[in-house]
Amino acid sequence: MSSFVIQGGRRLEGQIRVSGAKNSILPIMAASLLTRGECVIRSTPDLDDVATMVRILTNLGAKIRFGSEGDGGRRYIRITADVLTGYEISAELMGDMRSSIVVMGPLLSRLGKFRVSKPGGCSIGSRPINFHIRGLEMLGARIRDEHGYIDGEAGSLVGRDIHLDFPSVTATENIMMAAVYAEGPTVIRNAAREPEVVDLQNFLNGMGARVAGAGLDTVRITGTKTLHGVEHTVIPDRIETGTYIAAAAITGGDVVLTDTTPEHADAVIAKFREAGVAIETGRDFIRVRPQTALRSTDFKTMPYPGFPTDMQPQAMAMMCFARGTSLITENIFDKRFAHADELLRMGAAIEVGSRLAVVRGSGRLSGARVRATDLRAGAALVLAGLGAQGTTTVEGIGHIERGYENMEGKLRGVGADIERVEG
Ligand code: EPZ
Repeated sequence: MSSFVIQGGRRLEGQIRVSGAKNSILPIMAASLLTRGECVIRSTPDLDDVATMVRILTNLGAKIRFGSEGDGGRRYIRITADVLTGYEISAELMGDMRSSIVVMGPLLSRLGKFRVSKPGGCSIGSRPINFHIRGLEMLGARIRDEHGYIDGEAGSLVGRDIHLDFPSVTATENIMMAAVYAEGPTVIRNAAREPEVVDLQNFLNGMGARVAGAGLDTVRITGTKTLHGVEHTVIPDRIETGTYIAAAAITGGDVVLTDTTPEHADAVIAKFREAGVAIETGRDFIRVRPQTALRSTDFKTMPYPGFPTDMQPQAMAMMCFARGTSLITENIFDKRFAHADELLRMGAAIEVGSRLAVVRGSGRLSGARVRATDLRAGAALVLAGLGAQGTTTVEGIGHIERGYENMEGKLRGVGADIERVEG
């Protein structure tokens, strides 16, 4: 696995252009299975997870082409799923990316069947999909879960009133996509309110679907007969945005994040301001100005619009540089503190329970050799390395490259001393 080698202590200065949202483009790519028409998806980030979804859709028979607009322009992807030749996602591809479960809904709608290998847990906890299964069964699917595979089939799907026990993001998205051709109305109550769910609603409606309410806790879908191709631009990545706000804050830098949507990062901006980060926002940019001292602050992760769990590791890294005690409560996943052990190797003082971490910030960390255990933990370790004294080597950066486009280039572009080392 490749590593990043980071010489800490450099103030970041300059501009970072935010990429399209990973957690938006993945369900949107899956939704392209719902039509025979061509879907053009703009602002496509160059991520390993996007490449995995390309392999999944290609294996199902979709034709996919990449392009870019003008010189240095944004990438786009053209997906045409006019003839589907399969309905199974291999265990290998499912293992590469758990979120490939978002193909279940579209395959049920388009073909009336799917076969996926049961996604395992991962380093942030057990990741059951019982809400997905129950929602699809309520729409009329018959689902068998045996020998590590999940088989789904449905002669016809009928709209129902579905209440989610928890506002699961991808369960909301799977049910939306399974309901677009269902007979009659479907209502999803206690739906996830994330901006990525709204982006999917807009993509589906651009195809001729009738979806309303995304962004609130009740999403309504009225089944239609056919859907056509669509051109859509993916929203900016709010987690990448928050990650680079933290990078600027930790280094006392002056960084402008462009092509982003500040209101999607409201909770992050509010909490980081509470921690002493000087943040200005405009229509599509965020500026972090130098600040002298970060303040210890408590964080509680919640479903959107609360503080996002995907920013919890980055917040923990930042609190190591604040003097004082910060309490971090992880309410979404049951094992999302693996990055704390790695931060301890850098001299952090963190005590971890199952859902609560106590960070006793000293204002400084020392460089060390650390290992990324998942995408956001890896990002947190890079942030820690940027602020630490000395050299930090972050191993296992393949995790990071699943969800951050060109992190090394973007950080070098604002003055970070970071180098990718193979092997
Ligand atoms: C999405 O995952 C995101 N991934 C995650 O981002 C994000 O952390 C998560 O939402 C929470 O915001 C994508 O959108 C591709 P959930 P998802 O279903 O949908 C439990 C990243 O780093 N649950 O909202 O899988 C689950 O165990 C990734 O970009 C069930 O119990 O998350 C968790 O505790 C990590 N049964 C909670 O709900 C289910 O059927 C929230 O999970 C489904 C979920």
